[in-house]
Amino acid sequence: MKLPNKIGVLTSGGDAPGMNAAIRAVVRACAYNNLESVGVYRGFQGLIEGDFKELNARTVKNMINRGGTFLKSARCKDFLNAEGRRKAFDNLKRENVDALIVIGGDGSFAGASVFGKEFNFPVIGIPGTIDNDINGTDYTIGYDTALNTVVDAIDKIRDTANSHNRLFLVEVMGRGSGDIALNAGIGAGAEEILIPKLNMGLERLLDSLNRSKKSGKTSSIVVVSEGEKIGENILELAEYIEKNLPEYEVRVTVLGHIQRGGVPSCYDRVLASRFGVGAVDALLRGETNVMMGIIHNRIISIPFSEAIKGDNTIDEELIRVADIISI
Ligand code: F6P
Repeated sequence: MKLPNKIGVLTSGGDAPGMNAAIRAVVRACAYNNLESVGVYRGFQGLIEGDFKELNARTVKNMINRGGTFLKSARCKDFLNAEGRRKAFDNLKRENVDALIVIGGDGSFAGASVFGKEFNFPVIGIPGTIDNDINGTDYTIGYDTALNTVVDAIDKIRDTANSHNRLFLVEVMGRGSGDIALNAGIGAGAEEILIPKLNMGLERLLDSLNRSKKSGKTSSIVVVSEGEKIGENILELAEYIEKNLPEYEVRVTVLGHIQRGGVPSCYDRVLASRFGVGAVDALLRGETNVMMGIIHNRIISIPFSEAIKGDNTIDEELIRVADIISI
């Protein structure tokens, strides 16, 4: 197999803090190995539209500490069609790009995998999403920063919750996975953590809140992962609680997209740098259709097919810890 001379890099799906650090690492690893690098703007959409820009070690200066992604990102429907992917391939050929690194989540890897096989084109994935919901890696870029953002926000909410003896429902992101809710919930000392996979149910939640009250707690924080199923949405959940436990004064905070922004944590910068260098190394070893991952603090690569299985499980030990420390 011919090794690449010019590597394209793009960011796809929801942005995550640390994506810039990953792009920077890819570009600098290319420069180190005397390879050219090109940035593709707006993810797969820019690939289809030929929105490319040459990058070099200096064009990525002052990037390691910046949130978001300077290449911009998109969720691209056209890449689901063979016609869109054909246009993308033609653009890459025209620019003499002979390998692609995709920084994104499992949806992006599903597209990258089809593309790689369809055109026998070398593609490597780097997991970048605040959700931490990808198989084959302990951590994804952006997750650690998002956790710190959430904990910081809940610390502030706790001050006002405590001053008014209120119950706060705090909704966090994470799609179906609940990793942000579980870990930030423990870190911020939440009374209850509701995640879709656990499916706690209203009765058990009310029992637990009753116990909290009886044990002398005057205020409470309940972290609710988006996608949690008690009620239509978090406002309906708040109504249920107020109706069944009138002694509680309930307030709702939806943290939303602040979880995706901000300066990346040191952990995310280091992780992104390791993934970027690892991805170029993998291409130079002749690997394709794989995602970089970190398992027990070692950088590894696994086939896309493993990464996009979507069956990552809940950590039972964390649930036990959350239950014990919220007594
Ligand atoms: O995948 C990252 C994420 O922030 C999820 O946590 C959330 O469900 C989704 O993206 C929101 O997507 P959008 O910004 O397109 O509304």
